[in-house]
Amino acid sequence: MPDDIRAMKGGTPIVSLTAYTTPMAKMMDAHCDFVLVGDSLGMVVHGLPSTLGVTMEMMILHGQAVARGLSRAMMVIDMPFGSYEESPEQAFRNAARLMAETGAGAVKLEGGTHMAETIAFLVARGVPVMAHVGLTPQSINTLGGYKVQGRDAGAEKLLADAQAVAEAGAFAVVLEKVPAVMADRITQEVAIPTIGIGASAGCDGQILVVDDMLGLFTAFKPKFVKRYADLGTQGEAAIATYADEVRARQFPASEHTFAAEQPQKAAK
Ligand code: KIV
Ligand code: NA
Repeated sequence: MPDDIRAMKGGTPIVSLTAYTTPMAKMMDAHCDFVLVGDSLGMVVHGLPSTLGVTMEMMILHGQAVARGLSRAMMVIDMPFGSYEESPEQAFRNAARLMAETGAGAVKLEGGTHMAETIAFLVARGVPVMAHVGLTPQSINTLGGYKVQGRDAGAEKLLADAQAVAEAGAFAVVLEKVPAVMADRITQEVAIPTIGIGASAGCDGQILVVDDMLGLFTAFKPKFVKRYADLGTQGEAAIATYADEVRARQFPASEHTFAAEQPQKAAK
């Protein structure tokens, strides 16, 4: 529940990852406090150049898959670009659809001060909102690239954005790609949990894109990503071995094939 996440402010750090599929969700259900169906799925699962091309339909399909893999962790789902910015009414219509069709317990949307009115509108109508400030990838074309946010003159704006979403009623806020000292300052000054990605160990919680931390997404590696596994390399090696064995007629072996007669013991 969003209230359980909110209550973790200042305590044991909140653990979260993104997930896009049922098996991934199953892997993290016992270990994460919440799981985010992030619109990063456009880049890491669908090969899009940015998150801008992600649709409501894509979010719903992946949200439904993730929900089937979770029994304990809360599910938060991203509102895709173009589904909420126009008006609070548009945001509510699409947030309600995401929650109703996927079972997500909350939505996440990008933006600070300028989204505060929308966040308050959603929260007043039963939609828990996780906010996302700092580097907001859906605004990449106006931010001028994936730069660190909240440096120098940007520091006061970042702080104001975090305060605005907290006051609007968001139950937590993602801080993406901001100076560590700013993440620590915001964590101290706002009343809701901060969830860092490229932020600071002082945040109230952390999130990473699961394909990044498992080494499955290798097109590029942001500085803030730690690879806890190298599944992309291991997976390709496994596929290469399979290809060799097929071409050498070593696979399938006899244990992978079926006899003509029904075996006496329970057939598999
Ligand atoms: O889409 C995503 O994966 C995200 C997280 C990085 C916070 O928004
Ligand atoms: Na996102």
